[in-house]
This record gives sequence, structure tokens and C-alpha cells, in this order.
Amino acid sequence: MAESWVNSAERIGADLHLELELSGTGGRRAALISALREAVRSGRLAPGTRLPPYRSLAADLGVARNTVADAYAELVAEGWLTARQGSGTQVAERAEPLGTHARVPKKTPPRVRGPRHDLRQGTPDVSAFPRTAWLTSYRRALQQAPNEAFGPGDPAGRRELREALTEYLARARGVRTEPGRIVICSGFAHALRLLFGGSGGGVLRGPLAVETYGLPFHRELLAAAGVRTRPLALDEHGAQVEELGKERAVLLTPAHQFPTGGPLHSARRGAVIDWARARGGVILEDDYDGEFRYDRKPVGAVQGLDPERVIHIGSVSKSLSPALRLGWMVLPERYVDAVLEAKGEREAWVSVLDQLTLADFIVSGSYDRHVRRMRQRYRTRRDRLVVALAAHAPQVEVTGIAAGLHAVLRLPPGSEQAAVRAAHWQGLALDGLAEFRHPEAPISAPDEPDGLVVGYATPPEHAYEAALEALCAALPAR
Ligand SMILES: Cc1ncc(COP(=O)(O)O)c(C=O)c1O
Repeated sequence: MAESWVNSAERIGADLHLELELSGTGGRRAALISALREAVRSGRLAPGTRLPPYRSLAADLGVARNTVADAYAELVAEGWLTARQGSGTQVAERAEPLGTHARVPKKTPPRVRGPRHDLRQGTPDVSAFPRTAWLTSYRRALQQAPNEAFGPGDPAGRRELREALTEYLARARGVRTEPGRIVICSGFAHALRLLFGGSGGGVLRGPLAVETYGLPFHRELLAAAGVRTRPLALDEHGAQVEELGKERAVLLTPAHQFPTGGPLHSARRGAVIDWARARGGVILEDDYDGEFRYDRKPVGAVQGLDPERVIHIGSVSKSLSPALRLGWMVLPERYVDAVLEAKGEREAWVSVLDQLTLADFIVSGSYDRHVRRMRQRYRTRRDRLVVALAAHAPQVEVTGIAAGLHAVLRLPPGSEQAAVRAAHWQGLALDGLAEFRHPEAPISAPDEPDGLVVGYATPPEHAYEAALEALCAALPAR
């Protein structure tokens, strides 16, 4: 193995340690290509870095000038480098693969760059946060709040908000409740912590049945609380709830399965309620994006079928912003006291002023207006995604698009990992379906589709077209 430090800062701006692996076939040229490719891939050579002239690199490495010229030409052809008259050879201005931020010597300021386009699911269009309307509600809430609102908060949450939610959830989601059954929390994750964690050992006990595909963060949170989760298979009708066994609780995303995208079939909705009644079980309903449904009437909450068997959990993380940390649990009567006990003596999580602001935002009609506006915006984005794929990647099937802020692009078997890598190389941040799969789910072909989960809400409007182009370029050909 030949090693060399190419360390003339004025030539390339950064020290570069190249190891030429000469034991393989292909000689010095192949070894140099592979060492340079690795340096770019790993981020040691950041995008835009100028490479040394042929002659000096050849001298440093003890190889012929033509060997360096050939290696550069090959890497230009592969797209790793660019060559321009007068400015020599540079590392191509493409985003480095995710998770490999440039490791640059201390003297040079690091050039850490994120992906060019963020198509990860999870975040709404945060540029559309209704700042003016929120501020109006905040002002009004502050002016009208009684003095006692500025004392320690009630762990159940402000009455004003629980009343507003009772009316809104009944009207928009078919939830049947009253303010005394609602406990305000900081979002779905907090609700899980309150139900399963805490020093008191939690309100509920595992094992908990979950859908085969789900958010890894929630599984990890449960695992950290010592709760075992058991995967329930999914098919075109949603979770196969008839597989429910000895568990006393099941976590479902009935309005829009996360992340595969379909609603839970009406027969299954009935079946899971029957199971809960027969076994004394409880259903945790994660209604994370229930407001965003485009092509059909909204799918009402399962909670409406039997309020004593379902813990309905919602938050403003998709409808407004995940930064607010505001959510709610609609509880069967028998859990209210235990959840309040888990929360503690006073409100320690959610600002009372934010609660009062959200109450005003809902009562004044601003919430409905915002959701309607965003529904329209996301529907347009979803349609543009579908049109772009039909035109440029007709081999890819788009699913899960009737609702929510993400779609699933189904890929030919075995092609998911390569597609994720290609997307990263195109500067796109997105995940494959495998990321969301329960690690204990049995391996069976139809149940284990290949696909990409594409969040279409996050990129700013001006960058959306370019994000779609990069996505289509990354997809495998027919
Ligand atoms: C499946 C799922 N459930 C729930 C949530 C909401 O989580 P939280 O309210 O903790 O922000 C999200 C993300 O917004 C989600 O993707």
C-alpha cells in the first residue's frame, strides 16, 4: 500500500490523506480512482474543493502524470468531480451523502451542508405557520385571561381549551366526549410517556400491539419505558386486528395508517371495538393527521364508536407546528384520574398562555380557516407529485395519497436501498419503508413491500419543483 499526505494548503485548501490500495487489480489508476472516490464519498473532500494539478499530485504520490489525469477524467465522467477551463478540477457541487458531514482539518472552517431538498415525512409546511392569526389570538387570550390563569396550571389543562376541543373534535373528527375527559399534553409522544412511563409505573401495561409499520421513535420511547410491542400485520384494509391476542392495548393510526397510508377498513374498526369489549382492552387511536383528507369524506375517529374503549390522541404537530408542543388525550372515564396523577400536581409541560391561545384560535374560527387553507395547499402539492411521477417515472406506483402529508412510492422488490442511496446522492433527504418496519415483524414477501416515504409538505414552495425533479431522477428505471 502506498500512502501519501497531499498537504499543500494553497493547492487544495485542505490536507488530504490518500491511501492507494495497490493489491487489487487495475493498478495505480484504479487505486487512485477508488481512493479519491472514497475521499469524496466520506466527505473528506468537500463539494467545491479544488484538487491539486496533475503534476503535483503525481509527484506527491509517485505515480505518472497520466495516471492522475486518467483518474480525474474517470471521476468527472462518474459525476464525482467537475473540470472547468481555467479553474482546474473540483469536487462536484452536490450534497454529500447524508450522515457524512465533511471532516475537515481544524484550520479550515467546516462546510457542513444539509440535504438540498427535504422530503422526509413528519413536518408540515412551517413557512405557512399563521403568525398573524396566532398573534391575534395570543393578544386576545392575554387580555382576557383571568388573574388566576397566571398561577400554577391545572394538570388537566385550561378549561377554555378543553371546551373548545370538545366542540371541535365532535364536529371535525366525530369524537364523543366532554371537557372532564380531556387531558392536555405536549403531543402524542408525551401521551405515550404518561400512559406507559413515569415513576408510578404507568397507567397502562405492555405488551402493546402496534402496526407492523410505525414511527421508530414511538417504538423506542415505549422500549425505553420497558414496554414490549408486538407487530400486527397490515394488508389493504389496514391492521389485521383479528390477530390481536393476549394484549390489553393496541396502538393504531386508523384515519391514515402511518406510514403506508390507507384508512382502517370499517369492518376492522368494528372488529377492534369488539375485541376491546370482549377482552377489557383499550385502543390507542393516534389521530396525527386526521384533518388532512383530500379525495373522500373525512374518516371519523374510532373513538366515536365507543368512547369507553378508546384513548383518542391528537396534537397540532401536523396542523400547525410541532414546535408548539400542544396535544390532547380524550380518555375513557376510568383512566382520567390515573393520567392526571401521572401528570403531577400542576401543569409542568404546556404553557397556559399557549393553551389559552389555541382555545381562542379554535373558537374564533382561525383553526378551521388554517386547516382548510393548508388542505388546499397540500392537495396541490400531492397532485404535482402524482403528475411528475406519471410523466417521468411511470413505472413507480404512488400509494397512500388520499390523506396526510406524505405518499409512499412502491418500488420493484429489492430496489429500495439503492433508491434511497440514489436519492441521497441527488441531495434529497427521505427514508425507505424499511426504516419504519417493526424489527420483530416476520419476514413475508407481500407484507414487506419496497418503497420510499415521500413527505411533500416540507420543502419551501419555490424549491418544490426542483425537489420533484431530483426525486424523479433518483428513481429506478423500469
Ligand atoms: C405517526 C405519528 N404520530 C404522532 C405524531 C405527532 O407527534 P407529536 O404530537 O408528539 O409531535 C406524528 C408526527 O407529527 C406522527 O408521525
